[in-house]
Amino acid sequence: MRKTALALFLVVAAYGLSVMAQAPSTDAAPPVFANLNQLMRGVLYPAANVVFSAQADNPAEIKFIPGHDPNMSTDPLTSSFGGWQAVENAALALAESATLLTNASRHCSNGVAVPAKDPAWAAFVQEVRDASMKAYKAAQAKDQDKIVEISETLSTSCSGCHRKFRDRKAPENRCKPS
Ligand code: HEC
Repeated sequence: MRKTALALFLVVAAYGLSVMAQAPSTDAAPPVFANLNQLMRGVLYPAANVVFSAQADNPAEIKFIPGHDPNMSTDPLTSSFGGWQAVENAALALAESATLLTNASRHCSNGVAVPAKDPAWAAFVQEVRDASMKAYKAAQAKDQDKIVEISETLSTSCSGCHRKFRDRKAPENRCKPS
């Protein structure tokens, strides 16, 4: 009897240990699904365009398209969360997306890991974050002049990083640390 109880205890204890071993560590990097190019095309580019569009077209004057269900809109500006609210949301999406650029498990389209630890990379990421939060405030204030000013800063951050890490003569050198 006592032997069986001990054996059962050991089995339960071993199971417990194996569960603990499988539990994801809380400080592991979140999983990555897109390469950097895909992340740029899918997340940063469309969000930045919503912010940039507010320079020329006043979001307050955007009209729903007759016959189009705003709940099905592929353009955030004419969606149910449209107008200035779409600019607010796009700015927040951009600010959040900056953190996705710091995941060292992500690779660029050429297979090189993103240089997340490179100080220049980190500085461009922070610029995107700061400019996005300024754009969010300008959108909340419905201030188109401010959006014009901040769009300039934002696009300089995008193109600064592209110049340094993307637009290299040989594609295999993309994303290599500076
Ligand atoms: C921290 C650096 C960095 C920042 C900041 C950054 N990018 Fe990028 N971006 C890259 C790199 C590097 C690539 C190429 C990635 C690859 O080859 O996988 C790229 C690629 C792209 C592409 C794909 C181009 C193509 O030909 O497929 C788009 C679009 C893009 N970025 C838009 C943006 C926008 C818009 C912003 C600003 C809101 C931005 N990026 C900010 C580094 C950056």
